[in-house]
Amino acid sequence: MKTYKQNETPEFEMIRAAAPEDEGARQYYFIEQARILWKQQFDGLVDSGEAAARYEGSLLSELQAEGKYGTFHIATFGCQMNARDSEKLCGILEQIGLKGVESENADLVLYNTCTVRDNANQKVYGRLGYLQTLKKKRPGMMISLCGCMMQEPSVIEKIQKSYSYVDLIFGTHNIFKLAELLCCRMMSENRMVVDIWKDTDKIVEELPVDRKYSFKSGVNIMFGCNNFCSYCIVPYVRGRERSRKPEDIVSEIKKLVADGVVEVMLLGQNVNSYGKNLEKPMTFAELLREINKIEGLERIRFMTSHPKDLSDDLIKAMRDCEKVCNHLHLPLQSGSSRILKLMNRHYDKEGYLALVDKLRAAIPDIALTTDIIVGFPGETEEDFEETMDVVRRVRYDSAFTFIYSKRTGTPAAAMEQVPEDVVKERFDRLLKEVQKISSEVCGRDLHTTQKVLVETLDDHKEGYVTGRLSNNTVVHFPGDESLIGKIVDVWLEESKGFYYMGKQVERQES
Ligand code: 5AD
Ligand code: SF4
Repeated sequence: MKTYKQNETPEFEMIRAAAPEDEGARQYYFIEQARILWKQQFDGLVDSGEAAARYEGSLLSELQAEGKYGTFHIATFGCQMNARDSEKLCGILEQIGLKGVESENADLVLYNTCTVRDNANQKVYGRLGYLQTLKKKRPGMMISLCGCMMQEPSVIEKIQKSYSYVDLIFGTHNIFKLAELLCCRMMSENRMVVDIWKDTDKIVEELPVDRKYSFKSGVNIMFGCNNFCSYCIVPYVRGRERSRKPEDIVSEIKKLVADGVVEVMLLGQNVNSYGKNLEKPMTFAELLREINKIEGLERIRFMTSHPKDLSDDLIKAMRDCEKVCNHLHLPLQSGSSRILKLMNRHYDKEGYLALVDKLRAAIPDIALTTDIIVGFPGETEEDFEETMDVVRRVRYDSAFTFIYSKRTGTPAAAMEQVPEDVVKERFDRLLKEVQKISSEVCGRDLHTTQKVLVETLDDHKEGYVTGRLSNNTVVHFPGDESLIGKIVDVWLEESKGFYYMGKQVERQES
């Protein structure tokens, strides 16, 4: 499906005809064009005196002082991949000359959506109603939707039919085109612009990015997924697996480090199968070793790892690379071999437990976290008990637990569903067990000194900061803003179950 051409005007066609061919250069060209359009609009509002009412308080003078031509608000739903996409969207909008604001009462509101479970979809529909009331009071306000949910044809149909006040819709494969699409919409005489790509092999490098944190950053190493777990909609909305070239990844990380980043999170739906489709194939273990050499980088995290692809070489690389954090997120999904087979996961209970043993033999204090789905079609009490058994044996640091959500178009949607009350009861039992174990496990470093990356001021306690250990556990300790982004030594004084209270100590040799 690719329909936005229907709504292109001859004026936009002229602008487009003059665009450079190289995709990066082309988007910078559209950023400039969009900037001109927003500036015209903003100057019009200022000249007519409407700007003062539209930008309340000191906002108008802030915009003028910063050389901006309007405001935007991005709301992100879902995973870290979406969070990173939003940073890219933010970067483009800033470059166009818009200012990011907290309120949804903005000139452009963009929802970056998730569709992995149905409750995420429902949230978006609910909030669209609210946006309509805002738009009625703010003529010219633009509402845009993008991300995974937009890759579903039934969603697009519903929005076109029932939410016709939405201005611009695009998907997961073409977020790099935001400036071009905005130009198109601004020159399209009030018609909804829709541009969804079914799939892509395109990876556009070097576009602007506005990071949420100065000291840490996500880095996409690959896009898409080839696994087709039978419950999961991701392969349908994020397309086939594509890896970025190692030299592009390394050069991005070097630039981030030069810009103050000390921790990177390598992102992919299944990082363990990185590099298979490259011209010169490379494994994820090899990539980790390359990234580990980058001077000035302190910490490397990654997610997500599929158990079926976790090689011995990767375990060795994790053990040997001193910058790789002491934490692995290893989704279990179910502890029942029968259900795992129905889920198309390509491992069984014994295989998973053997992998955990192997990991712990190589890296004894590694923190393990996981994802578990309760109530997959056909799950019996015995199947569920197998999941509980794995949870008790592995003793995860933490686990994300999900109630199975039926996703149209996936094989599991056609299987016999488990009654809701049964699922809910199992879910509560699992959550209780997970939390009990987690509170026992998380205190394992009590009364030791650990390196902590300070992330924020403490939300709850004045004069305190919040940071993370290498194994991802949170610690609060007395400190101020000057520590944010620094790695310091902290004595873990008290364990509170899921986090520690500590105090900073003199730097010790690692
Ligand atoms: N229902 C519930 N949970 C799901 N996940 C993926 N698809 C579904 C679904 N249909 C969970 C998996 C995955 C995590 C990101 O979301 O546990 O690892
Ligand atoms: Fe979904 Fe499975 Fe791919 Fe993860 S590995 S994104 S659960 S299909």
